[in-house]
Amino acid sequence: MATTLAPVLTDTWDADRSWTLTSYERAGGYRGLRRALAMQAADVVTMVKESGLRGRGGAGFPTGMKWGFLPAPDGGPRYLVVNADESEPGTCKDIPLMMASPQHLVEGMIITSYAIGCHHAFLYVRGEVLHVYRRLLHAIEEARAAGYLGRNILGSGFDLEITLHAGAGAYICGEETALLDSLEGLRGQPRLKPPFPAVAGLYARPTVVNNVESIASVPGIVRGGADWFKGMGTERSTGHGLFSLSGHVTRPGQYEAPLGITLRELLDMAGGIREGHQVKFWTPGGSSTPIFTAEHLDVPLDYESVGAAGSMLGTRALQIFDETTSVVRAVTRWLEFYKHESCGKCTPCREGTYWLVQVLKRIEAGRGTHEDIDLLLDLCDNILGRAFCALGDGATSPITSAVQYFREEFEAGTHTPADVLFPPEHSSLF
Ligand code: NAI
Repeated sequence: MATTLAPVLTDTWDADRSWTLTSYERAGGYRGLRRALAMQAADVVTMVKESGLRGRGGAGFPTGMKWGFLPAPDGGPRYLVVNADESEPGTCKDIPLMMASPQHLVEGMIITSYAIGCHHAFLYVRGEVLHVYRRLLHAIEEARAAGYLGRNILGSGFDLEITLHAGAGAYICGEETALLDSLEGLRGQPRLKPPFPAVAGLYARPTVVNNVESIASVPGIVRGGADWFKGMGTERSTGHGLFSLSGHVTRPGQYEAPLGITLRELLDMAGGIREGHQVKFWTPGGSSTPIFTAEHLDVPLDYESVGAAGSMLGTRALQIFDETTSVVRAVTRWLEFYKHESCGKCTPCREGTYWLVQVLKRIEAGRGTHEDIDLLLDLCDNILGRAFCALGDGATSPITSAVQYFREEFEAGTHTPADVLFPPEHSSLF
């Protein structure tokens, strides 16, 4: 189920057996592919560039521009790899999309492959979600049986195979280069960038790595045109997107809306915060984006406005917490996740997340010292910009922002060193 102000990706979610090819075709599915195959591949790339589509995996990098970074064809293979390893805490949009309407993604993969000259595309899905794997496998088989995959697709002369690959449940494998290592059969750890995958990616060949929602948005752009897509959203954050509301919300779930909508508007659609409570803090884009508070309810959820207000749009995973939640507890829980998922390749992230958890647990238990807040911030400072990939940077965001907005809650968990050395309850001993 999805509630929508921009019924594009979610248009068929409520239909009977929405995941089938029949349901998708009934709603106009695969018209985009027919249109794309009648165009020059370079014109499809231009159309996606002109639409302004920005990567929906979190970073918001312009999709068409990324495709345009591929070097000129040299006769060797080039690949499309779709990142379906969604694992960011609170992020839960790609899995519902793949369950409800997998053909959006399959059609998007075929169009994208045609546009970039790829004949073998890979779909990397996290291994824990066997039901999603099965649904994608079925969708790929249905597409192949209908002539949308395989040799000479729809008589165009274009050939494409899609390989579906299940990962093994590591958050780091959502980082695009770790994903590529994992796909190659290696331990999933990030590679040094540059070279970016566009230049040297899978098997060291030019590779486009895109998120599920980005690729699923492509058929709509080809069908509707760049201007149609640009007609939604804001000038620099165009189009529609899935906003995932979770936490203390009356009706949590997926809300498809133009970028630039506010949390206040989304909450109106979601029945508001649970009765009798108020928003205390929330994440605009998953736990690796700095938290916001009730003051930010009217910030337009587009890349520029969220950035200007001190956070990042990220994955549009809006985790909403009311006044009953301890911010210290929430941040500690997130950091335990990052510590567990740190791949260990670089010291700032491996050691830093470990020590952040130690200090946070001390504060949460009311046994911190006043120096601990500065120590937390210093640790964050030593991770931010010094870690090998975005995991380390992301781990610092909830801490620095939570201290900024709720410092008193951290202070409540601390004592002066003297208090710790000579706790009042032991004063009779001295
Ligand atoms: P990034 O900004 O380094 O790169 C974004 C994309 O643009 C990549 O595909 C990269 O290869 C490409 N790119 C950037 N500069 C390029 C250049 N000069 N030439 C060619 N290609 C270039 O961000 P990254 O590390 O890929 O992603 C970080 C984001 O991922 C975070 O902001 C977070 O929101 C999000 N994230 C999402 C998760 C999820 O479950 N969906 C999990 C964790 C993080």
